[in-house]
Amino acid sequence: MLYRIITIDGPAGAGKTTVSKLLAKKLGCVRVDTGALYRGVAHEIKKQKIMWQDDAALKAFLSRLDLTFVLKKEEFRLISSGKDITPHIRTPEITMLASVTSARPAVRSALLDLQRRIASQQDAVFEGRDMGTVVFPDAKVKFFLFADLEVRARRRYEEMPDPAKDLFQVQAEMAARDTNDAQRVQAPLKPAPDAIHIDSSHLTARQVVDEMLRHL
Ligand code: DC
Repeated sequence: MLYRIITIDGPAGAGKTTVSKLLAKKLGCVRVDTGALYRGVAHEIKKQKIMWQDDAALKAFLSRLDLTFVLKKEEFRLISSGKDITPHIRTPEITMLASVTSARPAVRSALLDLQRRIASQQDAVFEGRDMGTVVFPDAKVKFFLFADLEVRARRRYEEMPDPAKDLFQVQAEMAARDTNDAQRVQAPLKPAPDAIHIDSSHLTARQVVDEMLRHL
C-alpha cells in the first residue's frame, strides 16, 4: 500500500538515520534502512569472494542471495541465509564496497523487488538514495534531506568512537562516495520532482522531524 510509505532520500551524513528513526517512532510504524541491504550485498560479495565485476558471476550470486530483515526488540536485524550480519556491515571496507557494487544494475534490480515486498507488508518510513525516484515513485510524501559536506563530514567524524582518521580524510571519503552515488547511471542520488527539500545543516534532528511532521 504505497500511500502508507514515507520516503527519505539524501547523501551520507545528512541525518537520515536519526531522523527516520524518530519519525517512524512518532508515526508508530517501522523504519527501513535500505543502505543496510546494499551493505549486506557487499558483505556477502566479500565473504564469498564473488567477482562482482563479472555480470554472470554477480547474477548467479544474487539468485542465491537470501537477505531479509527480522524485527528484534523494535530494531531490524539484517539476516543473510539465517545469520545475523548486522554487526559486520559498517566497516570502512564494506562502506566503500557497498558504494561501488550498488551501481551495478543487477544488484539494484534484486533489491528493488525485496524493498517493495517489505513495503507491501507494513506502513514504513524508507530511507535511502532512490526511494522517492525509483522504488516508491507513488509515495504520497517524499523528503530529500541534505546538508553541507563539511557539516556531514564533521557529524560522521564525531560519531567515531576512536577516530583512526582525521576530519579531512573523512570529508574526502565522503565526497568520493557522494560522487559515486550521484553520478552512477542506475538510480543516481537525486531528489524526486515532488520531494520536499530539507537542509539539515543548521537544524537538530528534532527540528527536522518537526518540519517533516508539519508537512505530514
Ligand atoms: O546509507 P548507507 O551509507 O548505509 O548506504 C550504503 C551505500 O548503499 C551507499 O554508498 C549508497 C548505496 N545505497 C543505494 O545505492 N541506494 C539506496 N537506496 C541506499 C543505499
